Amino acid sequence: MSQTIAIRRPDDWHLHLRDGDMLKAVLPDTVRDFARAIIMPNLVPPVVTGADATAYRDRILDALPRGAVFEPLMTLYLTEATDPEDVARAAGSGLIKAVKLYPAGATTNSDSGVKDISRVTPVLERMAEIGLPLCMHGEVTSAEVDIFDREAVFIDTVLEPLRERVPGLRIIMEHVTTSDGIDYVKSAADNLAATLTTHHLMINRNHIFKGGIRPHYYCLPIAKRQTHQMALRAAATSGDSRFFLGTDSAPHPDGAKESACGCAGVYNSPNAMSCLAHVFEEEGALQHLEAFASLNGPAYYKLPVNEEKITLKKMPEPLSIPASLQTPDGTVTVFDPECALHWAVVRHEPVEYE
Ligand code: NCD
Ligand code: ZN
Repeated sequence: MSQTIAIRRPDDWHLHLRDGDMLKAVLPDTVRDFARAIIMPNLVPPVVTGADATAYRDRILDALPRGAVFEPLMTLYLTEATDPEDVARAAGSGLIKAVKLYPAGATTNSDSGVKDISRVTPVLERMAEIGLPLCMHGEVTSAEVDIFDREAVFIDTVLEPLRERVPGLRIIMEHVTTSDGIDYVKSAADNLAATLTTHHLMINRNHIFKGGIRPHYYCLPIAKRQTHQMALRAAATSGDSRFFLGTDSAPHPDGAKESACGCAGVYNSPNAMSCLAHVFEEEGALQHLEAFASLNGPAYYKLPVNEEKITLKKMPEPLSIPASLQTPDGTVTVFDPECALHWAVVRHEPVEYE
């Protein structure tokens, strides 16, 4: 008997679309399934001002496939020179839905990020006043801190003091990879939530080194040990409204990843929903898939849920999802979950609610 589930159309609360040819190449893989996405601002140069975000949003809208219905939810890249009034204007006009904090040097294209968080307090206070959320890449950057400990150390040394200093600020800890992160979010007040990626639900650090070094599993924050992966899966599939999907789909041409100093990022947009349904089924929690992918995110961002629905169907045969995407910038490898995927998004349909 075939199994189907219908859920409200999902959103992606953390997405890298890049720019130019790469943007045009990857955008169809997101808009096929997702209605909206929080667009990461780590371009080169980054999206820092309201004017930058307007121009970037227009480039995204221009790159949309004909007939696609998709709303890019823009963010600004926080720097130590960010003007609180520019942020407030961009939020007031509805242009941006969040500001993104990258600790300088934490990840791909984060050189213009924040070195000393006390310097951005005026911006954060203004954001708290107007209710604009802060998305954060929660890792310390000091070379002395072990790469597998950087998230846990960030919570103690940066996040907790920040939340005490600006208690009204609404924060999203993005791409949480540790049980420390999960526990911290659960123990906090309701102005803290977290996104989880599909790949961190499906791999742990062993995958990066299985039989050799596997650059396509390298992303930041780096995948942790299996016990952490289990904690992420439990949180995602629990229905808890503080956790929601942010794929962190981050395309890089293979040449940039398969290199002596390969860059961080996993491209997972093409199979994100199939992977998620697979994980939720394994955890016996398909009834919570809609909360994670389609309801909890809009609730936290105070946006309406999507009216349309999508249907996922479990196919008898494994899906044949392309292993890579050809782009003018080179081949981009698609996330390989190393298992057969059977859940296909088969239908998008308008739906009536009472
Ligand atoms: C992202 C990228 O490539 O832009 N890479 C990644 O490993 N996740 C940046 C980020 O979100 O850390
Ligand atoms: Zn990211």
